[in-house]
Amino acid sequence: MFAARRALTGAAQSRAFSASTRDLSKVTVLGAAGGIGQPLSLLLKLNPRVTDLALYDIRMAPGVAADISHINTKSKVTGYDPTPSGLAAALKGAEIVLIPAGVPRKPGMTRDDLFNTNASIVRDLAKAAAESAPDANILVISNPVNSTVPIVAEIFKGKGVYNPKRLFGVTTLDVVRASRFVSEIKKTDPKDENITVVGGHSGVTIVPLFSQSSHPDLVGNAELLNRVQFGGDEVVKAKDGAGSATLSMAMAGARFAESLLRAAQGEKGVVEPTFVDSPLFKDQGVEFFASKVELGPSGVEKIHEIGKITAEEQKLVDACIADLKKNIEKGVAFVAQNP
Ligand code: NAD
Ligand code: LMR
Repeated sequence: MFAARRALTGAAQSRAFSASTRDLSKVTVLGAAGGIGQPLSLLLKLNPRVTDLALYDIRMAPGVAADISHINTKSKVTGYDPTPSGLAAALKGAEIVLIPAGVPRKPGMTRDDLFNTNASIVRDLAKAAAESAPDANILVISNPVNSTVPIVAEIFKGKGVYNPKRLFGVTTLDVVRASRFVSEIKKTDPKDENITVVGGHSGVTIVPLFSQSSHPDLVGNAELLNRVQFGGDEVVKAKDGAGSATLSMAMAGARFAESLLRAAQGEKGVVEPTFVDSPLFKDQGVEFFASKVELGPSGVEKIHEIGKITAEEQKLVDACIADLKKNIEKGVAFVAQNP
């Protein structure tokens, strides 16, 4: 038993132990000093399932780590220098790697306008993760998510360590927004509003399925649909040049990480919509798609079908597929041209 345990390292070791002892859950944040990174790191420090919090950024990660480390919860917090060895050390042994590194939008920009800057940032961080944390769950927050997730997949494939069950585009904010907006209309408690959102994470690729909620009458509510699909723009406009959603995103990222940790530690039936390597639309050339995914100790346990939807929602899915395909192909082509 002991010899077998000694043979395991890093994330594999943490997963092997965690089902019974709940120890050793290292979580790494790349881009930890940013608008999302700081509150996300704060929320992770407050999560008792996280035992080791590793913070990396090209600036100020040690400062953010020193600050957060004074919070009186048990986890150890370490900030790493912006060097290749700092990045490797931040990643080594991680069970979860969250990536909010990259630039945010300004008013008038689409998420795709971020591609030229963020594609290479995500590519380089993915290379480091593939080398130092090949078994980790990789949670991509950096936009455009529809393209950055395929970029990570291509890099991991190139290094021979791609595991489609461990790569996630974080679309939780769309679900969080949808439940909040519905609760405002219906005067309900948002925690009781479970709205499935499928597709991707930008504009028309964000498809809420109100027919599957307890308010099927909301299908066809154009104002609500627009608010869910363009909720990000609402924040970008309100911040007026100072960035995009950071605090609500930190909450959404922390929620998704918590769901993964719960599932890794043996809880059954943990389901979150997320953008993953998915069989659902592969016949139409769409390699990644967000739908409800059951999480487990190996990452993706089961990808749910979309299920029954209305003809109106089907039109939204069709529009989503057309855009999503282009976004995914753009990410794949980027890595082919800029390996
Ligand atoms: P920000 O500019 O406040 O922070 C980004 C951080 O990334 C900065 O601290 C920066 O130093 C760091 N960074 C840049 N290059 C890096 C590198 N190579 N390695 C490590 N760190 C690096 O931006 P933000 O508001 O935190 O947003 C970050 C990203 O998240 C944006 O692309 C934004 O569009 C995206 N976002 C996604 C969602 C979502 O739902 N998935 C929601 C909100 C924002
Ligand atoms: C969001 O949905 O808030 C993020 O994707 C950030 C953005 O650019 O809108």
